[in-house]
Amino acid sequence: MGTILSGMRPTGRLHLGHLLGVINNWKKLQDEYRCYFMVADWHALTSEYEDPSALRDNVRQMVIDWLSAGIDHEKSVIFRQSDVYQHAVLHLMLSMITPLPWLERCPTYKEQMQEIKGKDLSTYGFLGYPLLQAADILLYKADAVPVGEDQLPHLELTREIVRRFNYLYGTVFPEPKALLTAASKVPGLDGRKMSKSYGNCIFLSDDAGTIRERIRGAVTDPQKIYKDSPGRPEICNVFAYENIFLPERCSEIEAECREGTLGCVKCKGYLADAVIEYLQPVHERRSRYEKQPDFIDRLLADGAKKASVMAAANLSEAMNAMGL
Ligand code: TRP
Repeated sequence: MGTILSGMRPTGRLHLGHLLGVINNWKKLQDEYRCYFMVADWHALTSEYEDPSALRDNVRQMVIDWLSAGIDHEKSVIFRQSDVYQHAVLHLMLSMITPLPWLERCPTYKEQMQEIKGKDLSTYGFLGYPLLQAADILLYKADAVPVGEDQLPHLELTREIVRRFNYLYGTVFPEPKALLTAASKVPGLDGRKMSKSYGNCIFLSDDAGTIRERIRGAVTDPQKIYKDSPGRPEICNVFAYENIFLPERCSEIEAECREGTLGCVKCKGYLADAVIEYLQPVHERRSRYEKQPDFIDRLLADGAKKASVMAAANLSEAMNAMGL
């Protein structure tokens, strides 16, 4: 059985885009690989270092979201990065052999330095973000890493580091391959990418009333002004959702929308019912876990213990190879 490591930064609650893209994919992988799922709290600090007050709670909420969405802590190891100090040690060791330009030319780094204003990101930690990610992956000798397209440069950097390390010190690490997660099929409610910063999300923690309200505000075909104007499902956001959540009724909805016999308000009602039903089991699990903070703490402690076994063994092999 191969090994997988993947992680997410605990920067807020998960939304439908995460669920349909990342989490449902992780769920499947749990049966095919030995999986390590990591809450990357050190990575969160690389950009949120000025105010870490929400960090601990965000870690907990992320674990609750994962469990509620069906990640199984008995199949997979769920842990918090900062509980396994070996990540930091390996990061330091890898920093010795990483040429600065490899980090400076990283497209995610260049992009974020340009786009994110209002935070001082000219720090050593932020530049080293992808290297810390490489340490995460190599510490478990992961064969594969499920990631979105935006993370491919980090995987490529990891592979370059592996080649350099193995060339200098003898073969210790395997080159991990990327398991590309298909981009989520749900757009945000306004048609842009679903993202917390656009305020166009449905969060896993939203209750039924909130979901209904958010869907009521979704952007549809701008030419469908009255409820009996004919609409164009192919450019309609709500219809894109209906394809996923109500596939069996789509042909009927499509025909009626085109004819002008189905108004958007009613159509959105159908969708809201379907999304609420889809999220129902997630909500039930969520409310159960929210009442058990001790359970989450224990689960993380247990995950850290399991992760540490592998991390300690691989770190000591790397230290030996490096003459330490
Ligand atoms: N950088 C990843 C993201 O933002 C999170 C992450 C941290 C990660 N360490 C990782 C992903 C290791 C995969 C493997 O999504």
